[in-house]
Amino acid sequence: MLRQLPEVRHPDLLVGTETGDDAAVFRLGEDYALVQSVDFFPPIVDDPYHFGAIAVANAVSDIYAMGGKPLLGLNIVAFPMDLPKELLVAILLGGYAKANEAGMLIVGGHTIDDKEPKYGLAVTGLVRPGEQVTNTGARPGDVLVLTKPIGTGIITTAGKQGVVKAEVLQEAIATMERLNRDASEAMRQVGVHACTDVTGFGLLGHLKAMLLASGAAAQVWWEKVPLLPGTWELAGEGVAPGGTHRNLASLGDFVQWDDPLPHDARLVLSDAQTSGGLLISVPRKKAEALLKELASRGVSEPAVIGEVLEGQAGTMHVVP
Ligand code: CO
Ligand code: CO
Repeated sequence: MLRQLPEVRHPDLLVGTETGDDAAVFRLGEDYALVQSVDFFPPIVDDPYHFGAIAVANAVSDIYAMGGKPLLGLNIVAFPMDLPKELLVAILLGGYAKANEAGMLIVGGHTIDDKEPKYGLAVTGLVRPGEQVTNTGARPGDVLVLTKPIGTGIITTAGKQGVVKAEVLQEAIATMERLNRDASEAMRQVGVHACTDVTGFGLLGHLKAMLLASGAAAQVWWEKVPLLPGTWELAGEGVAPGGTHRNLASLGDFVQWDDPLPHDARLVLSDAQTSGGLLISVPRKKAEALLKELASRGVSEPAVIGEVLEGQAGTMHVVP
């Protein structure tokens, strides 16, 4: 559908839409380029303050995935007129607190009346021209590092259905609220080939986009992929959001599933994430240094989950 839109090209547009990257990058001069992104969505948790914080952590994540620093944010709000205004205040307070933690200023926004609440941000960040980390640089010989466990789609769906343990939901919320800032700083310090953040298309969907843009293939090691506590059990009970099923269906022939991979692994690896971790393609000889930089910044659960290979662009081989 987006292909029907006119191509946008400009000599200073360093990253546009054609590579499926997380944000656009526009050069202002020798020292600075703007990094622009936007994201908003309906509540995924009941608590309005936590919803606000998650929405902002998720929105700034695209800037971090590009190796940028968020500078300014604009609130995008949809809110039903007949709901208590305190709910909206709590959402925005959660958002402001998270923006503050990110060192970003929320400088305005826009609210419309809508049947269902929605919240998010348009974010402007900065990066040095040429230092942006895009989707296009993954090379055979790289390994793939994931900086947060997955399962937030399955767990928040269980939350909506009222079938999740409180501590499972709490850990998922804490993970979604965690900024990707430290992971981004670690990858900038080490120098990596490619990065994206894992959100709505799930781990394999975002990996596929990176591999397509890079002209490479990959092997994914299922048992190395970190899962949030509770994810596996809930998947076994058949809990998964519609988006996760659509993600799995849309992978089609791009994935070769090795036997004896447990069946639910397909769904978990396709699970639609909110505010997921960074997926980083790093030369194998730098992987150890990256893990060290991540650990020194308190990124607690980074995992090497696979490797980039030569092969048909975008294809993935998932092995136990
Ligand atoms: Co993104
Ligand atoms: Co990117």
